[in-house]
Amino acid sequence: MRKTLIAGNWKMNGSQAAIDQLLSSLKASLPERDNVDWAVFPPSTYIAQAQSMLEGSRIAWGGQNVCEHPEGAYTGEVSASMLVDFGCKYVIIGHSERRHIYNETNEQIAEKIVIAVEAGLTPVICVGETQAQFESEMTREVIRTQLDAVINHPEGKEAISRSVIAYEPVWAIGTGLTATPELAQDVHIRIRSYISENVGKKVADSMQILYGGSVKPDNATNLLAQPDIDGCLVGGASLDPTKFIGIGKCKN
Ligand code: 13P
Repeated sequence: MRKTLIAGNWKMNGSQAAIDQLLSSLKASLPERDNVDWAVFPPSTYIAQAQSMLEGSRIAWGGQNVCEHPEGAYTGEVSASMLVDFGCKYVIIGHSERRHIYNETNEQIAEKIVIAVEAGLTPVICVGETQAQFESEMTREVIRTQLDAVINHPEGKEAISRSVIAYEPVWAIGTGLTATPELAQDVHIRIRSYISENVGKKVADSMQILYGGSVKPDNATNLLAQPDIDGCLVGGASLDPTKFIGIGKCKN
């Protein structure tokens, strides 16, 4: 049985004061029902604040990115062991903003996933197609290529078996457009089958596959009702505690 994970990617938003308010509200309004796992992803400068406010709560925290190297002369980067040092459970890897704005490659992303798992983190591996790829019906091929880079890495199968996958169609991120629940379910089941064929059925059956892209309380019920959607990776709405908690409450 896969537990639902509701994850909030705050991206480059927040301040100490705003995060203090947001986390205090989240802690105070978390539903008593424990059918959902919760996680937030603050910018790296605020991970220590999240740790001090969330330790002992039911909300986990993680990094939005990690360096593919363990340590050394990589100015501006944050290592997997540093995230672990600040209590991170998860790390988002391969978000479309990293792929498209910072030109991260599939191979670099595979290295990051492997190093994160070696450090004890659970990667949230983001995959998804652009609008142009969607329109030319390339979704399946794009996602396979993104997954193949991980699967074909010598340590990749082991690493993917310890990861969460997030399907985030690029055209749905921050646009207000959402994949229909049927379309998202179709992509999710294809991802699960691909993992089953190339990594193993047991891994595929237990893997949490999240949907991301303009998730809000008013569209989350139908998304979370799909059999292969095991949670959501939420951007904008995760900055509003009522909306973020509201999304989790949509899970029956
Ligand atoms: P929005 O929910 O703002 O569309 O962002 C989705 C996302 O990129 C989460 O990682």
